Amino acid sequence: MRSQSCFIFRSCWTGESSCCKSKRARCLIASGFLPAFSVSHKPKRLRYNLCLFAKQPYPSPSSGSGGITFLVGNIFAQMMQLLLGFRRLTRLVDDKDVAPLEDVYYPEREEWSRNYQVLVLGATGKIGNIITKKLLLRGYRVRVLVRNLYSSTLDAVGTGCTFAKGDVRELSSLYDAMENIDKVIWAVGTSDSQETETVEFNGLQNVIKALHDSKFQQYGSEESAKVTLFKFDRKTDFENWKPVLDEFRSRLASVGLQKRPPKIEYMQNSRNNAVFTGKIFDADGGTAEIASKIDQHNLEEFEGLIIRCIGDGKTYGLELRTRSGDNAQVEYLARFRTVPNKWLTIRLPFSKFVAVPKEGILRPVLVTEEINLSDVYQLAINFVKATRQDEDDGFYLAIDYIKAYRKQQEPEFIMISCTDVGKYLRPDKLKELDDDNPIVWKLRGEIALRNSGLTYCIIRSGRCIDRPGGLKPTIVDQEPIQDDKYISHADLADVVLHSLNNRRACNVTFNAYESNRQAQHSSLKPFEATDISTSLEQLRANT
Ligand SMILES: NC(=O)c1ccc[n+]([C@@H]2O[C@H](COP(=O)([O-])OP(=O)(O)OC[C@H]3O[C@@H](n4cnc5c(N)ncnc54)[C@H](OP(=O)(O)O)[C@@H]3O)[C@@H](O)[C@H]2O)c1
Repeated sequence: MRSQSCFIFRSCWTGESSCCKSKRARCLIASGFLPAFSVSHKPKRLRYNLCLFAKQPYPSPSSGSGGITFLVGNIFAQMMQLLLGFRRLTRLVDDKDVAPLEDVYYPEREEWSRNYQVLVLGATGKIGNIITKKLLLRGYRVRVLVRNLYSSTLDAVGTGCTFAKGDVRELSSLYDAMENIDKVIWAVGTSDSQETETVEFNGLQNVIKALHDSKFQQYGSEESAKVTLFKFDRKTDFENWKPVLDEFRSRLASVGLQKRPPKIEYMQNSRNNAVFTGKIFDADGGTAEIASKIDQHNLEEFEGLIIRCIGDGKTYGLELRTRSGDNAQVEYLARFRTVPNKWLTIRLPFSKFVAVPKEGILRPVLVTEEINLSDVYQLAINFVKATRQDEDDGFYLAIDYIKAYRKQQEPEFIMISCTDVGKYLRPDKLKELDDDNPIVWKLRGEIALRNSGLTYCIIRSGRCIDRPGGLKPTIVDQEPIQDDKYISHADLADVVLHSLNNRRACNVTFNAYESNRQAQHSSLKPFEATDISTSLEQLRANT
């Protein structure tokens, strides 16, 4: 087997590890993320932990290697130290200790390609700055809000992002920054206790409002996570739906094989809901249906449909029709059961829709046909009386709306709060708080975000310390905090990035702080110390 050079870099500046072949290393170097130094192919794999700007070397390796590798590596390390001075090469590991390139653990690798545009507020601050750098490193499009465009400010944030000038205290200054933004990260703070209310509470509310307004522009009066396909109290939406004549059964009736086709009534009730009601006369069954063309042809970015309705306890079907389905003589059906006289909001994920032969098709068809969500041209609701055992042949369904809900709910708004907030949540402690205490405004800010209707993630961070990330495992929990907790800026930034695309981090509030023990470093899982996905799974939602 041919041996390849493989370099794993760990920068204490961002706490980021990168594993790459030498070609990719050169790309990172060229893009300024790693320092320039020459790399040469060695017959053995070498692993380096490279500490940038660190006064102390990165913790020494648990496993060493003997013989020539060590010698070569040592000479190389000496040369590096001589050449780079302030950079330290601290760890050399034998080939057998390094995972094959393909096995190296990258929790977010698949997320990198997502082309989200993220707005960072507080990017000139210590926490916001490192979050911005990590976002850029992972391929996000990043916009930062800055209070001025002086070159010192732009230099502090760095290259690769776009800048918007604004101040969270002035609502009107936030709209440009919000344009086409998918997610917002709030890392704004002030050390002036007189300003806490205006910056950290009123400012936060302004940002929430600006984000809402920009989503309103994008999606109309919809929640950003859902799009209304039909709201039946809207006249046009109601009128788009029509009863569908059961041609198959009508043909049977015309030749005397069926008594009467189904009776279908479609009307509005006093609350302007659409009412689909009628009767199926034939003892052998039959189908009653209403259908409408659909304007939103492309449902690819959605995960399913929501129907709000009240019925008679019977089972109804929601059908999707696509042109490719028509060619294959199939349509796509999901069934839902109603509860008598009870409004239900029923979620029907597209994964639950199955291909069924089109009505009246008697010859066998290929029913494994996959639904083409980019090509849905018609929606239908039907009631099927299948067998002669169905004694009651009438049906009644009132429908309020049909919506499509987007794929994966993820946090839209990530707020950096602090563990100190948790300390005051006990009722006896809460009494100690008055309006002069900055914690009050953080707490009120959290409440405002929770009530905003945006999908949020509130991270109560321990006190941030300047040291390399990944030294101690990060704890993520929702326990009440009693004493002081700490976390490095880099580890906190990792928590933010983990949460950004994680549906488990949606609508939760949690603490993030470092454990007292040292992280167990493993070359197979360089992210072990900061991989919080398992902890996120345990969180209580809507907290
Ligand atoms: N550091 C910690 O130990 C720690 C721990 C837990 C939680 N937190 C919380 O995390 C947040 C950020 O902390 P940090 O240490 O990174 O703070 P920081 O270094 O002081 O940075 C604060 C950021 O907020 C920006 N900002 C202040 N007022 C603003 C305004 N009116 N409009 C727009 N931006 C404004 C600042 O921009 P300028 O550069 O223009 O001033 C700066 O970018 C704070 O809410 C803090 O309470 C911090």
